[in-house]
Amino acid sequence: METAQDSIERLAAEVRSCTRCRLAETRTHAVPGAGNPRAELLLVAEAPGAREDATGLPFQGLAGRFLDRCLAELGVSRAAVFITSTNKCRPPGNRNPRPDEVAACASYLDRQMALLAPAVVLAMGGTAAARLDPRAAGRPVRVADLRGKPVTLQPGRALLVTYHPAAAMRFPASRQPFVSDLRRACVVAGLIPGLP
Ligand code: URA
Repeated sequence: METAQDSIERLAAEVRSCTRCRLAETRTHAVPGAGNPRAELLLVAEAPGAREDATGLPFQGLAGRFLDRCLAELGVSRAAVFITSTNKCRPPGNRNPRPDEVAACASYLDRQMALLAPAVVLAMGGTAAARLDPRAAGRPVRVADLRGKPVTLQPGRALLVTYHPAAAMRFPASRQPFVSDLRRACVVAGLIPGLP
């Protein structure tokens, strides 16, 4: 029988050998994402950084430790969720992914969402929000304008928008909203009890 794990793994193998855009020329490892193939919560960020490029795994650096700590304080382990990004390869110097690079990578994230079928997608940061939020329609967005107002992507699937963990770690004004959005996403996904 074909399992979700097989399919997520197959997709990951495709991503690891992808040459659809110029980022393939400068990456060390593509980073397909990782986590529970039955996750009800999918976290989507922007693109791998240096440590993720070196290891092939998402959120390995300081922002990853911050994210793990925020999840742990809510009583949720990283293993309970699935973490990926809009772009699977590191842009040189950590620049923002360009529109053609986002477009080249788009079907991987679409397939991940279809395979995982999560109840909640949390777009972390402007790049993920612009890519996923129908209110953005691909245009640049301000996270502050979209967060706190979940939208339905399809029946049984909500999209929430929040700040990128690196921004929440760095800027005190983003931290509490980030934690509160993460908590809400975990509640709506059924990972922890509470009112959304
Ligand atoms: N930022 C991302 O978008 N993904 C990572 O894995 C790390 C930082």
